[in-house]
Amino acid sequence: MAIVPPHFMTRTVNIGLIGAGTVGGGVLQALRRNGALMASRLGLRLRVERVAVRSLKKKRDFKVSKGVLTADWKSVVNDPKVDLVVELIGGTTIAKDVVLAALREGKPVVTANKALLAFYGEKLFAAAEKSGANLYYEASVAGGVPIIKVIREALAGNRVTHLYGILNGTCNFILTKMNEGMEFSAAVKLAQQQGYAEADPSLDIDGHDAAHKVGILASLAHGFWVKPGEVFTEGITHICPMDLEFAGKLGYAIKLLGIVKISRAGSIQVSMYPALIPDDHVLANVSDVYNGILVRGDVVGDTLHYGQGAGPDATASAVLSDIGDAVLDLKHGATDRLKAFIPHESNGAVRQIGETTCCYYLRLSVLDRPGVLAKVSAVLAKNKIGISSVTQPEGHEGKSVPLILMLHYAKNLAMTKALKSIEKLSSVKTKPVMIRVESLD
Ligand code: NDP
Ligand code: HSE
Repeated sequence: MAIVPPHFMTRTVNIGLIGAGTVGGGVLQALRRNGALMASRLGLRLRVERVAVRSLKKKRDFKVSKGVLTADWKSVVNDPKVDLVVELIGGTTIAKDVVLAALREGKPVVTANKALLAFYGEKLFAAAEKSGANLYYEASVAGGVPIIKVIREALAGNRVTHLYGILNGTCNFILTKMNEGMEFSAAVKLAQQQGYAEADPSLDIDGHDAAHKVGILASLAHGFWVKPGEVFTEGITHICPMDLEFAGKLGYAIKLLGIVKISRAGSIQVSMYPALIPDDHVLANVSDVYNGILVRGDVVGDTLHYGQGAGPDATASAVLSDIGDAVLDLKHGATDRLKAFIPHESNGAVRQIGETTCCYYLRLSVLDRPGVLAKVSAVLAKNKIGISSVTQPEGHEGKSVPLILMLHYAKNLAMTKALKSIEKLSSVKTKPVMIRVESLD
């Protein structure tokens, strides 16, 4: 059965795919499955003309015709038959050369590379502007969740006052598995096997990948490009099963949470750190590889966006969406309908983390003797931090025992100072574990 009315099919758009690993392989498979459907929706045929990989010797799960596969990405970008380039190799070196070279050729580019955008976004957008070709990057944030389209297009009539996002599938998968009793390292390995993790998984577990993503969302929402160094970032490596258990008993879940929030002074908090969130909040129930983003607009109120945040299929879906946009640009000759990034806030600034305020969970390992709590609370009082609850769980008899304190709202600067003093107390035996508490109000 012919899906595409023949009078529509006057032209074929030839795709040059650079990188055919987890995501690139997923894109090839998805195009094979739904390429004809896409063509019928777009009114143009799609064809994968060339594919560049690093090694021609590797066994592949996909089949391509002879002559399609090459180890020379330049020959793909420069191929006059290639109309559109999809960069899926990752990293910030060769990937940057690929994107810039394609734009210089006047070819639209689709990328899933959040690290590249975070570090070189402004340079790439300037190159796109100069070339007249567009740069699309829906797959760079939240895998299959079309959050970039939501912020850029669907919520264009809103000022985004708050954004809370679970943006790293690997970390969410690891925290979920740890909550079910799996060891951290086993959970990391499983995430790698599923194709969720970055080539260097420390980018995931140290929070940088998610920080790149929250920086991109903050930039789109607030109109000035947020640089990676401006995003306060903490990963999940210090979180123990014990913290997940204590948090659960206190009525919270622990999530690696991105925050973009306008302060009263007008500056924007842009951060990525693990946080305790109320366990009856919808974001607390975003598990496994799923991502969830709450975006609050001043006109629309709260909106929620949910889906798989990593893996070949979910990410391929976002890449295909971008391919669709780029194809429509080519079809209508309107490459700047929606520019890659439109700065619209010249005085935008990121708020220093020390100036931001929240509540805190503090887990100490202390000597089991009288007077310890008094010393800890004296330090907190000196820094004007109030205690809302203290728990010393039973069944931990020994030289040192856990002491869990829930602390009232305080500035991060005050908390950092207090932590330094608490760490020096002779009755505190290991580095304190502090996790911020976010009410998501
Ligand atoms: P992979 O490591 O699985 O794939 C990378 C691909 O790039 C491989 O096919 C590799 O070739 C190829 N490659 C590397 N260097 C070169 C080169 N110099 N010339 C040509 N090809 C090259 O990575 P992923 O698919 O996981 O990730 C790709 C991008 O997508 C990254 O930017 C990542 O951050 C992003 N992303 C990943 C997601 C995921 O769930 N994995 C989700 C969202 C975004 P070879 O196969 O021969 O080694
Ligand atoms: N490693 C990333 C994650 C891939 O786990 O979220 C999707 O961007």
